[in-house]
Amino acid sequence: MKSSTIVSLLTPGIALLASGRLVPRQICSELPANPEPVSGSPSSASSASSAPSSIAAPAAASSATSAPSSSGVPTSSAPATGGSCALPSSYQWTDFGGPLAEPANGWVSLKDFTDSIVDGKHVVYASYHDDANYGSMAFSPFSDWSAMADATQTATTGFSAVAPTLFYFEPQDTWILAYQWGATAFSYRTSSDPTDPSGWSSESPLFSGTISGSNTGPIDQTVIGDDENMYLFFAGDNGKIYRASMPIDSFPGDFGTSAEEILSDTSNNIFEAVQVYTVQGQSQYLMIIEAIGSQGRYFRSFTASSLDGEWTVQAGSEDAPFAGKANSGATWTNDISHGALVVAANDQTMPIDPCNLSFLYQGKDPSASTSDYDLQPYRPGLLTLAN
Ligand SMILES: *[C@@H]1O[C@H](CO)[C@@H](O)[C@H](O)[C@H]1NC(C)=O
Repeated sequence: MKSSTIVSLLTPGIALLASGRLVPRQICSELPANPEPVSGSPSSASSASSAPSSIAAPAAASSATSAPSSSGVPTSSAPATGGSCALPSSYQWTDFGGPLAEPANGWVSLKDFTDSIVDGKHVVYASYHDDANYGSMAFSPFSDWSAMADATQTATTGFSAVAPTLFYFEPQDTWILAYQWGATAFSYRTSSDPTDPSGWSSESPLFSGTISGSNTGPIDQTVIGDDENMYLFFAGDNGKIYRASMPIDSFPGDFGTSAEEILSDTSNNIFEAVQVYTVQGQSQYLMIIEAIGSQGRYFRSFTASSLDGEWTVQAGSEDAPFAGKANSGATWTNDISHGALVVAANDQTMPIDPCNLSFLYQGKDPSASTSDYDLQPYRPGLLTLAN
């Protein structure tokens, strides 16, 4: 385990910025470290320890009974009824045609989108960056993507939920907002009304472990469940994807400190922004991972038959990616970067309909020149599957 990682995550009151500056933790939470090194300077994958990381204790699946669903009807607009399509082996997208929205409030970028459809309207949370800091925000609910530009952009009040994951946890009839850079590596808050950016509970720990061979430590969480367990997947800008799990009856809760390394490659090939979905109508799960390519950021896809199973690369090359410059149809951005697929229903299985796939992503004007990664002018974009 690299000492820098230990310092950044285990030394109380101190955090190690990507620049190497030590700052007090309290300041760091207002001035988050650069989550994503500039393209071309990812952490060295070769320095990663070859020793397997600790293995999460397997959940006692046999003792887990399906949690009874609450009487609360999910505020989902779409039932989980997809299923007549399979994922294509080769993806072709249509782009919305430009940024969906410009940053408000003096912010320089909008990033790391997460979306749920509530009462027929998109509820989108995101990271923002102003001239100095990362924070988090929500758009006021909007009916269709052309209305996103006019949605009100409101910062979350009193906390920053950077790289957020929003989802409805059906067994407890509550909404979850998971994010990085709280008091622990990953944190979460709960709410009965996700449309209210100031309506979230106090913070609880989601994961407190460390990883080796990473300059960032754990970043870019996502959470997904099956009938018995909840799973946390995350990245480290280091060529690895990690997974932790807990019985669904224990959620919302803390995944603890142990995570299993489940994928390993160069840091360019497995960089960050991992997302995992249940493919409706198929006995299949889809994982997408942001990679660094010669022509910008792009997404590679993997599939598995169970969330605790092996992940097999599906559309994994820059020439034929899940989504990237080669197949996005976008002309305003070369980068198809951190975002989320639009889920077909609101529950912890994160279902996607392969007949109707949309990808809310972050892109940027290729001519915008700044050497500071954090100041790059990312905006929301939308891809719709064309095949
Ligand atoms: C496709 O998904 C969108 C959500 O992105 C939904 O509003 C729409 O009703 C879906 N269309 C069909 C035909 O299922």
